[in-house]
Parts: sequence; structure tokens; C-alpha cells
Amino acid sequence: MTPELAHDLKASVRTIVDYPKPGILFRDITTLLGDARSFRRAVDELVQPWAGLKIDKVAGMEARGFIIGGAVAHQLSAGFVPIRKKGKLPHTTVRIAYSLEYGIDEMEVHADAIKPGERVILVDDLIATGGTAEGAVKLMRQIGAEVMAACFIIDLPDLGGAAKLRAMNVPVRTLMTFD
Ligand code: PRP
Ligand code: ADE
Repeated sequence: MTPELAHDLKASVRTIVDYPKPGILFRDITTLLGDARSFRRAVDELVQPWAGLKIDKVAGMEARGFIIGGAVAHQLSAGFVPIRKKGKLPHTTVRIAYSLEYGIDEMEVHADAIKPGERVILVDDLIATGGTAEGAVKLMRQIGAEVMAACFIIDLPDLGGAAKLRAMNVPVRTLMTFD
């Protein structure tokens, strides 16, 4: 990625102070998504290492991972698997509890969403503590996926999430960091 593109993409993210709780700097990607050129270029950059390779499924974490993940899946001609907050999926699910920067929750995926050995890329807008992504990797592996990589527009490296995923043998791709 050129320094100019990295600069433009980072400038398209808006920061909201004290949302959703005091002390949190919320990195808001709606401004990036709303800018056609930034959205297109962010997706192109995310998929670049896998263009032309066989990826069976892209799994996206609710809710912002659905937006980026859907676009990434389309670009890679892969299927899309939604990883949802508990209670939203209609068929038999596998569920896991996880913690994130500002709370705890549970997420789940349809048990039959992946065929054994399918090659999956995980997608979300942002990785902070890595609690969400760690839970998603565990869920995917539990239903038989080979997790090839995880990609995020934003990394908050001070919170250690990307390092946590790499320690689980998951290659991580991110487009920008915020301290
Ligand atoms: C945000 C973000 C990631 C997660 C990252 O989602 O979109 O999924 O937090 O945090 P972590 O690395 O500490 O787990 P959030 O749970 O706020 O849900 P939302 O997309 O539905 O707003
Ligand atoms: N998810 C977890 N931490 C976040 C942050 N600081 N900004 C936006 N989304 C987040």
C-alpha cells in the first residue's frame, strides 16, 4: 500500500471520544464506508494477498464484519458465513462466550456453515483485545474450518488482539493502527 493510500484511508476514519463508555476512543468506520473511493480501496487492499487463491468462505463477525466481509467475499468469489450475537440464527448453532474491549457477550454460527477442511478468512472492521476474533477462530475450527487468515481495517495494537491471533497460528492483515 502506498503511503498516500494509507494516509487517505486513516483520514477517512472518524474518532468519537467516550463512546460507548467513558475512556473509550471509538474508531468509527461509517465515514470510510460512506466514501465510495475509500470503501473500494480498503476492500481491494484487504483481499490483495488472496486474489486468485482458493478461499471457500469468508466469515464476518456481527455487525460491522458483515459489511466488510460481504464485500470481501464478493471480491474473492467466496461464500459468506455470518457469525452472530446469540439468539439470531435460526438453525442448529455452535456458541461461544467472549470478552471485548468494553464488555462480554456470546456469539454463534450455524453448525453446518462450513464443510470439513474448507479454507476460511475471518473479516471484521477492527481488532482491539482480540476477544471477538479469538472466539470466532475457535468457533470456525470447531465446525471444521481451516482458518487461513484474519483481516481487519483497523488494529489497536496496544490492546494485543493481533498478537493473540498470531499466537493461535492465524496470519493477520490490517490496514492501519491507532495507538
Ligand atoms: C467491535 C468490532 C469488533 C470488536 C473488536 O464490535 O466491530 O467486532 O468490537 O473488539 P475486540 O477485539 O476487543 O473483541 P462490537 O462488539 O462493538 O459489535 P458491533 O459491531 O455489533 O457494534
Ligand atoms: N471495538 C472495540 N473497541 C473499539 C474501538 N475503540 N472503536 C471501535 N470499535 C471497537
